[in-house]
Order: sequence, then structure tokens, then C-alpha cells
Amino acid sequence: MKRLTVPAIQRRKFEGKTDEPLVMLTAYTARQAQILDPHCDILLVGDSLAQVIYGLPSTLPVTLDMMIAHGAAVVRGSYHSVVIVDMPFGAYEASPQQAFAAASRILAETGCAAVKLEGGQAMAETIAFLSQRGIPVMAHIGLTPQAVNALGGYGARGKSQQEHAKIMADARAVADAGAFAVVLEGVMEELADAITGSIDIPVIGIGASARCDGQVLVIDDMLGMFDRVPRFVKRYENLAETIEGAVKNYAADVRARAFPTEDQVYRPKK
Ligand code: KIV
Ligand code: NA
Repeated sequence: MKRLTVPAIQRRKFEGKTDEPLVMLTAYTARQAQILDPHCDILLVGDSLAQVIYGLPSTLPVTLDMMIAHGAAVVRGSYHSVVIVDMPFGAYEASPQQAFAAASRILAETGCAAVKLEGGQAMAETIAFLSQRGIPVMAHIGLTPQAVNALGGYGARGKSQQEHAKIMADARAVADAGAFAVVLEGVMEELADAITGSIDIPVIGIGASARCDGQVLVIDDMLGMFDRVPRFVKRYENLAETIEGAVKNYAADVRARAFPTEDQVYRPKK
């Protein structure tokens, strides 16, 4: 299986294949990537690794080095999906030049195909700067977690007329600037439908609408590994419970000297 490309992802919308939504999940480790890869179109190394891997309270403390370390692991563990790495807070907002320096490190040091950055109209110039210089950019609008201090929380966006218009303008701006796709997070369903119908790049929804051009979830959320999850997460498994059960059995075995048994020890051959 040959690895999918960014143009192939973008073409899915031009070719009107709305019957075949794009499948995207986050991944943070090589083994995780190996398991998800055959079933996905896009693997996102999200800065959600802040909460998911590192126990941080928000995505703001994530560094470029953290994103590069996990990005490289996910690229090594996959051969089919397009791998996209999040640009961390503080690494790209100051100027297109700052963004290019960060993004070029990410591409060069991980082998990923594209970066994702948060922001709409305010990031349009940066998106154009990068994409005209060979760095494909996925935009992320609506609920943008790196802006949690400005937004005042992680609640759904686009409820007021004003916010609706702002997010619609953000979608148009990133598409016009040359983003190859856009993540639309935590918005009213009706707004998600309107955006999906009015821009010609794939709109990947999370807490958006079933009619988006694709869907993304945080892998630990959908596997039931993370305790507090937003309304938009569907739990496909309860892995935390499964793991806890296994660990309980192991602990009991060790305490009862029921592990290891003769199957797990080395003895001279007879
Ligand atoms: O960091 C992340 O996991 C994301 C997705 C939720 C889109 O940005
Ligand atoms: Na992110």
C-alpha cells in the first residue's frame, strides 16, 4: 500500500466524493500508529498529547521538540496514512517567518507531510506563506484549544450571529489562503453544514456535523482511556477498564506467587 498524499486528500472534495468521508484519528506513538494506520486516511499527531500523554492542564505548554519526537514516532509506525503534526502554541503565531522555521523543522525532522495550525483570518497570511513554499497546511478553526484563555473555556462556538459570521469568515479565509483542509471543532451543527457546503477544501469535523467531509477524534477519548471527555466523543471501547482488570489480576498473581509459573522461567534443557 502506497502512502496517501496531501493532494489526494484535497482531491477527495473536488471529485465530490462526499459519500466517502475522510477518516482521521490522533496518534502519538509508533505502536499506536501501526494499529490505526491501515484504517485511516490521516493520522494527526495532535498537541492534545499535552493532556493525553503528559498530564498537562492545557495544550499551551507543549514544545516543538515534544511534537517532533512524537511526530517522528508516528511516521515510523505508519506507511499508509498522511501524517500531520500540530504546530504547538508559541511556535508560529508571531510571523510567517517564525511559522516557516517551526514547520520546516517539523517536516525535516519527522518526515510528516503537513502541519496543522490553529486560527482563521489572523493566520491567513501565514498559511499562504507556508503553502507557497512547499509546506502543506491544515487549518483548525471554531473551538481552538490553544486560545482557551481568550475563549474563556472549551464550550461550543458559533451560537451567536456574530460568532457564526466570524467562524464562516475564518473558513473562507483559510481556504482562500491555500490550506489543503480544515479541522472544524466544537461548533453548532448548522454552522458546520453551512461551512462544508461553502468552501472547496475538505472540512474535517470534531463536534461539528455528520455531513462534514471527514471526522476526527482523539484516540484515547474514543477508546475510553481518558476520564473526562466532551459531548462529541463516542466511546467505542472502555480500555481503561480492560487495562485495570489485567493489572489487578497481575498484582494478585504476584502477591500470591502465582506468577511467574514454569512457563515463564528459564530452566536448563532436559
Ligand atoms: O490536538 C488534537 O488532538 C487536535 C484534534 C482534536 C483535531 O487538534
Ligand atoms: Na490540536
